[in-house]
Amino acid sequence: MRLAHCHNFHDFRELARRRLPGPIFNYIDGAADDEVTYRQNTAAFDRCDLLPSVLTGVQDVDMSVTVMGQKLDMPIYCSPTALQRLFHHDGERAVAAAAEKYGTMFGVSSLGTVSIEEMRAKHKNPQCYQFYFHKDRGLNRAMMQSAKESGVNVMMLTVDSITGGNRERDLRTGFSIPFRLTLGGMMQFAMKPMWGINYVTHEKFAMPQLDKFVNMGGGASSIGNYFSNMLDPSMDWDDVAEMVQEWDGQFCLKGIMTAKDARRAVDIGCTGIVLSNHGGRQLDGSRTPFDQLKEIVDEVGDEIDVIMDSGIQRGTHVLKALSLGAKAVGGGRFYLYPLAAAGQAGVERALGLMKAEIERGMKLMGVTSVGQLSRENLRFR
Ligand code: LAC
Repeated sequence: MRLAHCHNFHDFRELARRRLPGPIFNYIDGAADDEVTYRQNTAAFDRCDLLPSVLTGVQDVDMSVTVMGQKLDMPIYCSPTALQRLFHHDGERAVAAAAEKYGTMFGVSSLGTVSIEEMRAKHKNPQCYQFYFHKDRGLNRAMMQSAKESGVNVMMLTVDSITGGNRERDLRTGFSIPFRLTLGGMMQFAMKPMWGINYVTHEKFAMPQLDKFVNMGGGASSIGNYFSNMLDPSMDWDDVAEMVQEWDGQFCLKGIMTAKDARRAVDIGCTGIVLSNHGGRQLDGSRTPFDQLKEIVDEVGDEIDVIMDSGIQRGTHVLKALSLGAKAVGGGRFYLYPLAAAGQAGVERALGLMKAEIERGMKLMGVTSVGQLSRENLRFR
């Protein structure tokens, strides 16, 4: 199987599975507990149907959107995700370059493996910074300050990870950073020597956002330990209100799931929210963002930008979310498997296919701009 044979999410996933050592593939592919929420995230889109209009004249389609003050040429962006240089040695560099080519936003995580400064200096497309709230308030301030100085456009605070999710696949493989593997896990690395050669012959693994302030990369801290030891479980609305004031720019909360919390996000001055359950990786059994979208758009959609992620695999999923009132959508695995499969070329192919699916879908729906999509276009069964 080669990149040219990848036509959808499932193909990229399969190619990534073949190329990555098992523990790394399962870190991306896995989710919390029984992975019910992970499966439901995508299944939710199948519980409603699109209603197309015909004979509307759809020669030229404009699929751009403006969200969080950023103009995106297509309504889906690459959500910030951790550890990208583990998946492919180019990591964030590949994703940012591919996103720039398609005029969309990419994110760099606090747990990213390339610095926000490097990415901001190299690329003109919008960039958001995914942030975690640490126990050390001085660290939070310093990290925000350095993001501000680097010229990052959008701050995205993750609020659904107050503690680490129960990723049983990672427990089984012993996935952690740096690697502390079980015997079985080690065997899986031995079976993917190309990955290993690329890993050791490229820039040493690092997490520059954190390395600047704490000793992460060198330690034996697993992601779970990082969550438990460094992040602040006492984080509350007052803390975040302070951060929003301090940032004084585009600020969104990623992981909002109720209308009441969406209202509070408006009250503390956020400019956006991302409905998300972290791709099913945190609270298993939680409702899907798509199922909650209508209620939340009805509550705050006129006041702040409502975005959603989790489960999006197809252009028609994007169209359904936009029809219900999302301003844009984010995706993680939809570009991570392609990244793992083929680096920048993989991400470009995934974005190209997604763009073509959205454009085709809009034409078949009889709309020429995202603003024309509405709830008239959707029926729940
Ligand atoms: C995860 C965190 C790191 O989902 O975002 O693995």
